Amino acid sequence: MPAIAIIGAQWGDEGKGKIVDLLADRTKVVVRFSGGNNAGHTVVNRLGEFRMHLIPSGIFHPDVTCIIGNGVVIDPATLFKEIDELVERGISTDNLNISNRAHLIMPYHILLDGLEEEARGSGAIGTTRKGVGPAFTDKTSRLGIRVCDLLDRESFRQRLGTVLEQKNNVLTRLYGAAPLAFDDVYRDYCRYGERIAPFVRETDVIVNEALGRGDLVLLEGAQGAMLDLDYGSYPYVTSAVSGGVSLGLGMSPSKIESVIGVFKAYITRVGGGPMPTELHDESGEFIREQGREYGTTTGRPRRCGWFDAVAGRYSVEVNGFTSAAIMKFDILDEFSTIKICTSYEIDGDSHIRPPACPYRLEKCVPVYEEMPGWKCSTSNIRRFEELPPQAQAYVRRIEELIGCPASIVSVGPDREQTIMVRPVP
Ligand code: GDP
Ligand code: IMO
Ligand code: MG
Repeated sequence: MPAIAIIGAQWGDEGKGKIVDLLADRTKVVVRFSGGNNAGHTVVNRLGEFRMHLIPSGIFHPDVTCIIGNGVVIDPATLFKEIDELVERGISTDNLNISNRAHLIMPYHILLDGLEEEARGSGAIGTTRKGVGPAFTDKTSRLGIRVCDLLDRESFRQRLGTVLEQKNNVLTRLYGAAPLAFDDVYRDYCRYGERIAPFVRETDVIVNEALGRGDLVLLEGAQGAMLDLDYGSYPYVTSAVSGGVSLGLGMSPSKIESVIGVFKAYITRVGGGPMPTELHDESGEFIREQGREYGTTTGRPRRCGWFDAVAGRYSVEVNGFTSAAIMKFDILDEFSTIKICTSYEIDGDSHIRPPACPYRLEKCVPVYEEMPGWKCSTSNIRRFEELPPQAQAYVRRIEELIGCPASIVSVGPDREQTIMVRPVP
């Protein structure tokens, strides 16, 4: 059996956690390969409701090996809090493995995330302020500290000494902030090192051995394609690539047989940056309240809008989705008419691809097509044929516009509230 990748197709929070939890029962390995604890993946199953930030959403299946891969940046404090909360609720984390190559979020990353945001003023990205961007910056500029560095105190002392001196210079000279005390950071991270050690592995070996045995591996993407560093609405993006599976994990892309793009039946965004179909009216307000559209990580209200098929089609193209999961379908149950954006207009010209430049994306005026709503509850429906004809037509129109068949329609947060439209391998 090969690997299946679950990738956010919009601006994040599409419902990836639900899909991973749903598919994990037929899987042997679930891997987070990108992002950090800026992610918030909600899982609702018979054990309760859980908000996962770093730990893969497959953790609820005791026979599934869960991996935090090398492409993830790890804040150890958040990691241990998440482990403790799970254990308190009776969920074992014995099946968790952490890459020795993953980079760490350090206290200066969190401070710098806040200071950099303040310095951006009206151009602020609206980051989660978890230190994710600065940690990825240090990874690229070769100033990062990795999980394996914590396992040898003497080499960690030296590494931290060099890096912290530079970081304290930035904190004090550039931002006029107080420096961090070496002894405090060293002591805290040595403790984290002791606690993380039993989880640390060469995780790429585990993944490749599993694939060699023919086990199914599920790849849990974080964020979404429109937040991708290259393909997203730069600079209002996050620091990881949504489809960077092989880099963030150490496996060949040839092993990925199926890529499921996770979409909401509408669209949301949290933080700054252009969003052509954003609604500032009562429909947007209704979606936010009905869909409980408040950030899983920061609690911020999410910006809500109609389904954007321009962004959707682009997302299918750049990620090569083999099928789509259409989530939160039930949130549209009460609308008499539903709009889909089929193209953008910029200065009177029609566009069917999102422009690369933010100032042009800001100018995009959505061109809508209207479809009749179905005006009845879908949350107890489990078969596609049982959806009202208008609801079926809405799914079919999305498939047509984005150029990708739907494999899943989700009609509620619970694992059970799912319609399998066609088989997922
Ligand atoms: P993720 O980051 O992609 O995993 O998504 P989030 O967990 O941040 O946000 C998705 C939210 O929608 C969570 O609160 C889920 O419990 C909820 N959810 C997922 N699918 C559905 C659905 O089909 N219907 C409803 N009503 N809620 C859903
Ligand atoms: P999941 O995995 C939604 C957004 C932030 C901000 C931008 C940069 O739950 O879908 P960062 O802290 O990453 O530097 O912030 O990216 N963002 C997300 N939005 N869902 C997420 O994750 C996100 N992770 C980052 O709101 O606009
Ligand atoms: Mg989320």
